[in-house]
Amino acid sequence: MELPWDPAALEAAARERLPAIAYAYFAAGAGMESSVAANPRAWGRWWLRPRVLVDAGAVSTATTVLGTPIALPVMLAPCAFHRLAHADAEAATARAAAAAGTVMMVSTHSSLPLEQVVPHATAGAWFQLYVDPDPGVTLGRLRRAEECGCGALVITVDAPVWGVRYRGLGDSAAFAEAAGSTAVSSGAATFLGLDWAGVERIAAATRLPVVLKGILHPDDAGRAAASGVAGLVVSNHGGRQLDGSIPPALALPEVVAAVAGRLEVYVDGGVRSGADVLRALALGARAVLVGRPYLWALTLGGEAGVLALLRRLGAETANAMTLAGQTDPARVDPGIVVAADPRLS
Ligand code: FNR
Ligand code: LAC
Repeated sequence: MELPWDPAALEAAARERLPAIAYAYFAAGAGMESSVAANPRAWGRWWLRPRVLVDAGAVSTATTVLGTPIALPVMLAPCAFHRLAHADAEAATARAAAAAGTVMMVSTHSSLPLEQVVPHATAGAWFQLYVDPDPGVTLGRLRRAEECGCGALVITVDAPVWGVRYRGLGDSAAFAEAAGSTAVSSGAATFLGLDWAGVERIAAATRLPVVLKGILHPDDAGRAAASGVAGLVVSNHGGRQLDGSIPPALALPEVVAAVAGRLEVYVDGGVRSGADVLRALALGARAVLVGRPYLWALTLGGEAGVLALLRRLGAETANAMTLAGQTDPARVDPGIVVAADPRLS
C-alpha cells in the first residue's frame, strides 16, 4: 500500500479519516505543544557527514535489541488505544511488526487484551508497564506479560501524573466509547509514588529484562545503569508530558555518554525518516522507536498500512546507511554526525 511520504501529508490523510476526538488524542501534546513541534525539527540539528568508498554490498539494517534480532533498527513505541485508529486495533499493528521483523511495545492501555496481541507479534513484543498504586495490580500486569511471552518490561517513568493537555481528552464519555471502555477506565491512573526503589522492586519481581522509558537527564541515565536495568528509552513521551522538555534528539548524546556502554539506549520522539534513524544510531542509540507515524498508517491501512510504513523506514535507513558508508546499525561511526551551526538553522 502507498502512504504519503511526507510526514505532514501522512498525518493530514489520517486526520481526514479519523473522528475528531481520536485525531486530537493522537496528535495532542502537553501545554503549548512546544516539545511536540520541536521533536522532529531537532533531528535536523545534526548533519550527516558521510564516509565514501565503503563496500555498499555489505550494508544490512539487521541488529539486535537485548539479544532479540530485528530486521531494522526501528521498533514500534507503546501507544494506547489502537482501536481509535482501526477496528483491528493492536492485533493489526502486531502482525505488521512481525511481518517487518521488529519488536512491538504493547501499551498497558492497549485496546485489546495482551493475550490477543502478543501471539501476533512473532518477532517480539515488549510490555510497557504503567505502575499502579496497588502493587497487586502491577504484579498482575507483570505476570500476564511474562505468561504471554513478552521479551522485556518497559517501565514508563515520565508519567507520575499526566501532562496538561488542552485537546484530546475533552469529552471523556465520547472518548471512552471510541477507545473501548475497559481501557479508558484503567487509563485514568498514574502513579505519583514510583521512585528508584520501586523500580528496583519491580525488577526483582520479574525475570524479564527491564527498560526505563522517558529518561532525558544524564544523571538519571547514570542512575539507571547503576540500578542494573537493561536499557532505556530517551524520550519526552512525544511531547505529551512536560511541555518544554528537551527534544530527545538533543538529550541523546549526554545520556549515551553517562551510560558509557553499560546498557542499551533507544530513543523516540519525532523520528520521521531513515536519515533520522541514522542520526540516532550515530549519536549512540541502539535503535529508535516511532509513535504517531504508525498510528496514522494504521488509520489509513490497518496492518498493511503499518507494514508499508515500516518497510519504507527500513528502505530509507538502508539507503542512508549506504550513502553514509555505514554497514552495521550497531557500529555506526559517531564521526558521521556533526552539530549544525546554530546560525544557519
Ligand atoms: C503515546 N505514548 C505512550 N507511551 C507510553 O509509554 N505508554 C502509552 O500508553 C503511550 N500512549 C501514547 C498514545 C499516543 C496517542 C501517543 C502519540 C503516544 C508515547 C509513545 O510511546 C512515544 O514516546 C512517542 O509517541 C514518540 O514520539 P512520536 O514518534 O510520536 O513523535
Ligand atoms: C498518553 C498515555 C496513554 O500519552 O501514555 O496518552
